[in-house]
Amino acid sequence: MADNEWIDVGSAAALREKPVQEVTAGKLKLALSCVNGEFAAISGVCNHVGGPLGHGTLDGDFLVCPWHYWTYHRATGESQFGDSVPSHEVRIENDRVLVSAKPRTKRVRTHHEPHPLARPAIRAEGPVRVLGLSTTAMTAGRERYSTSEDLLERALAHAQSTLGCETQLIRVRDLEFRNCEGFYSKAARACTWPCSITLMDPADQMDRIYEGLVHWADVVLLATPIRWGSASSLYFKMIERMNCIQNQETIANKHLLHNKVAAFIITGGQDNVQATAGQMLTFFAELGCQFPQYPFIAHSRGWSAEDMENNMAYVRESKHLEEGAKALVQRAVEMAALSVAGAITAQTPTRGGRKGHELDTRAQLLVQIQP
Ligand code: FES
Repeated sequence: MADNEWIDVGSAAALREKPVQEVTAGKLKLALSCVNGEFAAISGVCNHVGGPLGHGTLDGDFLVCPWHYWTYHRATGESQFGDSVPSHEVRIENDRVLVSAKPRTKRVRTHHEPHPLARPAIRAEGPVRVLGLSTTAMTAGRERYSTSEDLLERALAHAQSTLGCETQLIRVRDLEFRNCEGFYSKAARACTWPCSITLMDPADQMDRIYEGLVHWADVVLLATPIRWGSASSLYFKMIERMNCIQNQETIANKHLLHNKVAAFIITGGQDNVQATAGQMLTFFAELGCQFPQYPFIAHSRGWSAEDMENNMAYVRESKHLEEGAKALVQRAVEMAALSVAGAITAQTPTRGGRKGHELDTRAQLLVQIQP
């Protein structure tokens, strides 16, 4: 294809039917738009991580990338960030749309400072660090007693005072963060690390959990109540946002939670402890975490007793549960200490380990275009 060539991309009458569409011109993938009968063409590949601009939408004269909503002028290719994608001349001849093979403007990538979370995860020197995550939901200013959170706090206090660990407690309910919007469902590469929402929304506070998990903790001790036979809705909201961590395993062979230890505290008014624990164990196993022997403790009031006021009193007073919580964190810390000391062989699993082979889809193996 010569640079001065004009390429026929189709019938003008047919192409006017859609405001935006992807067309190919030789090897080029273009986003062809049509507003009030006027055609314009820019590259169909977004500067961010390669989203398909030809599948985007129009906002006035701006084309919105369907992946993370960067916008480009549909004719000049200029974005709101100072970036631009190549633009191409368009002309109509005999009701055919012709696009210039040679772009009239070039792709420009301005320097975007990487998000702080994107830095390499290198463990800083120091004692074993235990991150407690409480996923109990409750109204701000109307706190109530939470059995799982109480046991978590007692475990953390033990880790700090007796085991010499650094500890941190995040009550997930204190954070404002958005639901995962399923960027992965658009394309595996659309699910980025750091999370696309974190990158585009500075008010989103999921970054506190990412920072603690990826860059700080050796042990994550996660507490949840049982809600209708499952972990809490807040737990699921949080782990859906961890899809970006798991996805790095599969598409980039990158292990963000390498050799960290996870353990769980599960309490409820109704049973289903093993199913709840199984789901949590599977998810954190998929993230590449290690588990101590007996990786969770649980307490349930059971099927036939719904006297929850007595249950709260029971947990408050129970020395057995307190000892269980302390023993759990001790097992997790001992395992983390081995890992920190290099006594557990560093694993380099392939594609998330469980798949045991590389992905078949070539597009998913392409290196991401960094912003
Ligand atoms: S905004 Fe286009 S790929 Fe992210």
